[in-house]
Amino acid sequence: MNRGGYFITGTDTGVGKTQIAAALITLLAQRHKRVVGMKPVASGCSENGGALRNADAQLLIEASSVDVDYADVNPYAFAPAIAPHVAAEDAGTKIELESVLDHFERLQQQADYVVVEGVGGWMVPLGHIITTEHMAKALDLPVVLVIGMRLGCLNHGLLTARAIEAAGLPLAGWVANTIDPEMERVNDNLRTLKNRLNAPFLGLIPWIESAAPAELSRFLSLPE
Ligand SMILES: Nc1ncnc2c1ncn2[C@@H]1O[C@H](COP(=O)(O)OP(=O)(O)OP(=O)(O)O)[C@@H](O)[C@H]1O
Ligand SMILES: [Mg+2]
Repeated sequence: MNRGGYFITGTDTGVGKTQIAAALITLLAQRHKRVVGMKPVASGCSENGGALRNADAQLLIEASSVDVDYADVNPYAFAPAIAPHVAAEDAGTKIELESVLDHFERLQQQADYVVVEGVGGWMVPLGHIITTEHMAKALDLPVVLVIGMRLGCLNHGLLTARAIEAAGLPLAGWVANTIDPEMERVNDNLRTLKNRLNAPFLGLIPWIESAAPAELSRFLSLPE
């Protein structure tokens, strides 16, 4: 099942990709694997010591069990929290998949697993033509889908799973993340997803305010 890493996508922005990616990194590190996170493209970065830094990338780095260069973890960092291809255009930059691959391979040389977080949802544009899907295909990693449990998650979850399948990538599993603690009929929604998704269910993550990755990792059941 494992090809040295995972590509973490989600049903939308803000559904818990970073939280789940950090939890997954922690889980693999607990299994004594050398594991590192990657956030190839990030918009919404702030300046730190003269360089742009992204909070997601920092969180993944904190969870990682090997020290690597920030530039390999997050080669494309843009200041405004806007659609990445617009941010890239504003910055006069073109997001190149070859460059993402180069940095990924450098990380791969230093770790057993590279856990890559996408940007937004599956079909987020990264340029005039390419989308996050092209990035996932270029990386050729099994995909973990984070479904943000809220009204609308059935449609978003099933559509995303179908797109991943159509892209020819293995869906290593899906995680149901409780991002709306007020959501009604969570169990009915979960049952529906289990019935309709043809991929391993990796766990239901409860709503835990400001949880550490290790705390969330207890709810993940990733096969050894
Ligand atoms: N299970 C949870 N319990 C409580 N809060 C959560 C949970 N999962 C995520 N959150 C919170 O929801 C917010 C969004 O989560 P996160 O940043 O992981 O989403 P994301 O999908 O990575 O977003 P982005 O598209 O910006 O990368 C964060 O403030 C995070 O702490
Ligand atoms: Mg994130």
